[in-house]
Amino acid sequence: MSKVCLCRGITEEQIVEAVKNGATSFEEVKEATGAGAGGCRGGRCKGKIEIIIEENK
Ligand code: FES
Repeated sequence: MSKVCLCRGITEEQIVEAVKNGATSFEEVKEATGAGAGGCRGGRCKGKIEIIIEENK
């Protein structure tokens, strides 16, 4: 699986898992996985995370 959040090394698989477990927003995925909580504060990954949420909710 490819890395989605490069700062924190979070994979698409981990984000899909968080969505399956009920996360419905960037903030909730961040809380669940740490994705988006790295040095760029989601600048590089927020858009990708939101697409993954849309595709898996
Ligand atoms: S790439 Fe996700 S916080 Fe920077």
